[in-house]
Amino acid sequence: MNKLGSIIILFVFCMTTAKAEDGSRLWLRSEMPTDITLSIDSTMPDDDGYRISGKTITARTQMGLLYGKYALLRGEQGESHPYFKYRILNHWDNLDGTIERGYAGESIFWSLTPAPSPRERGDHINKYAEACASVGINGTVLNNVNASPKMLTPIYINKVKEIADILRPWGIRVYLSVNFGSPKALGEVKTADPLNPQVRKWWKKKTREIYKLIPDFGGFLVKANSEGQPGPFDYGRTHADGANMLADALKPYGGIVMWRSFVYGAKHQGEDRVKQAVSEFAELDGQFRDNVILQSKNGPLDFQPREPYAPIFDQMKKTPQMAELQITQEYLGQSKHLVYLAPMWEEFFGYVEPSRLVGIAGVANIGLDTNWCGHHFSQANWYAFGRLAWDPTLTSEQIAKEWLSQTFGNEKGKMKNEEISTVITSLLLRSHEACVNYMMPLGLHHIFKFDHHMGPEPDGFKADYPIEWCPVYYHRANKDSIGVDRSSTGTNATGQYREPYRSLYDNIKTCPEEYLLWFHRVPWTYRMESGLTLWDEIQRHYNRGVAEVDDFAYIWQQTKPCIDEQRWQEVDECLRFQQKDARLWRDTCLKYFGSFLSSE
Ligand code: GCU
Repeated sequence: MNKLGSIIILFVFCMTTAKAEDGSRLWLRSEMPTDITLSIDSTMPDDDGYRISGKTITARTQMGLLYGKYALLRGEQGESHPYFKYRILNHWDNLDGTIERGYAGESIFWSLTPAPSPRERGDHINKYAEACASVGINGTVLNNVNASPKMLTPIYINKVKEIADILRPWGIRVYLSVNFGSPKALGEVKTADPLNPQVRKWWKKKTREIYKLIPDFGGFLVKANSEGQPGPFDYGRTHADGANMLADALKPYGGIVMWRSFVYGAKHQGEDRVKQAVSEFAELDGQFRDNVILQSKNGPLDFQPREPYAPIFDQMKKTPQMAELQITQEYLGQSKHLVYLAPMWEEFFGYVEPSRLVGIAGVANIGLDTNWCGHHFSQANWYAFGRLAWDPTLTSEQIAKEWLSQTFGNEKGKMKNEEISTVITSLLLRSHEACVNYMMPLGLHHIFKFDHHMGPEPDGFKADYPIEWCPVYYHRANKDSIGVDRSSTGTNATGQYREPYRSLYDNIKTCPEEYLLWFHRVPWTYRMESGLTLWDEIQRHYNRGVAEVDDFAYIWQQTKPCIDEQRWQEVDECLRFQQKDARLWRDTCLKYFGSFLSSE
């Protein structure tokens, strides 16, 4: 349909303006039907699954019935079971209430004393838990992976107990990020060496203390020997030594260790950063206890707008693995840009079959902001994460439609008209590709502004920082070429992939263009599939990204009569910002890269 056609239809169908909304109710605005029949059936195959027939919900447990109720609300019929056992949010929340890479206000769990305790924030945490449970999330890590040792002191463990008590009825277990150096940092043992008997004893005692208060505690998440965090290397030990020590402490209670593979600049300093996780972990495959799960980001670098999948998922054959996705938009416009992330995650599952994973972790985008996530549409990413953790075969489109109708539809989940739903769904589905285009198309990566990662800085270089933090390291543009040769003639990062991807990515002729500059160093004059030179193609992508955002803003204007005022205004404001920012990205990057061509 042409644009004029859409406008007319929208105006005709949207006769009334919906009542005031501020986004605080998330997607939980629909009325739960009162005439539901609930029935327990002990022969159902698992605890969390449910069967829905008409308005009858059958499950093996109360939890299954609860999941079933929310499924009924979104219109499901038939039987459904969770794909992953572990469906966990990771909050990067600090104990002072700030959130690392958080763009939606302060932590819902922590705050500086004498601010409210978790119990006083009970209603809020309860609402959070309901939202999580409504999409099947069943675990949450309450604090930043850059963990404070204080997390394990009695005062905080007691607060964790208060939070766990609120989350339990919603089927959500609590987990904690732990600082590997805690026994030493808290001054209770002279070392944190994982093979030292005193240290091992300390962790056992600490774990017992936690389980005494929280019998269903889930376990520990660990960032070790990465970006300045302490770890087993500090004592000449391996990641397996470190993880196994914690696993032994947790084992008697059924707890797990989620050990992160996000490491660089330690043992394999100097090696291509995207190769370092495999270099550190592949040789340890088979050495971890059975309650250790290796948790890896979807891509080998760091949550870039687009990355090829992380080859560590191919290399670890004996170790259970979890994928870590970033819901908070650290590198994707930080709750100021409308970017729906499900298409990116769907892309990931196209390469890494879900059957290789035991769980999914999502770095949360939740804070004390009235609308929870900063941008009204960022709520869709929280929702999509949960839905994909339950069923990774769902399409982005299906999830977008569900979320939209529950978030912007009426209380019965009905949009004012189908046309709006179609128009906004298409906007959502195009938004990730648009962001890739105006930020870093064709495999460009990590050309963000230093530290805060908002905005472009392709010329970024600071002699006194590790080279891996400098954007120029990631594109290496000069007057002839741009991109990093990670093929077998270069760093051989392609060699870490399974076939057919190894060969596909290795050959410049077969490498998908969306990853071209990630894997190859390419002359500016190289002919692309379109027949354009690389330089012309880069310009075309940046321009397309900007044009897409302009179109999103235009589409949003047309939806005005159908969306409640406050949310419409706030989204509109963000879209205007995004339009400006997309231009800033395009203009900065094209000016900088263009300067190499004109300097011939
Ligand atoms: C990124 C992010 C950090 C975070 C780190 C991690 O580097 O910018 O804030 O701590 O990832 O995942 O550990």
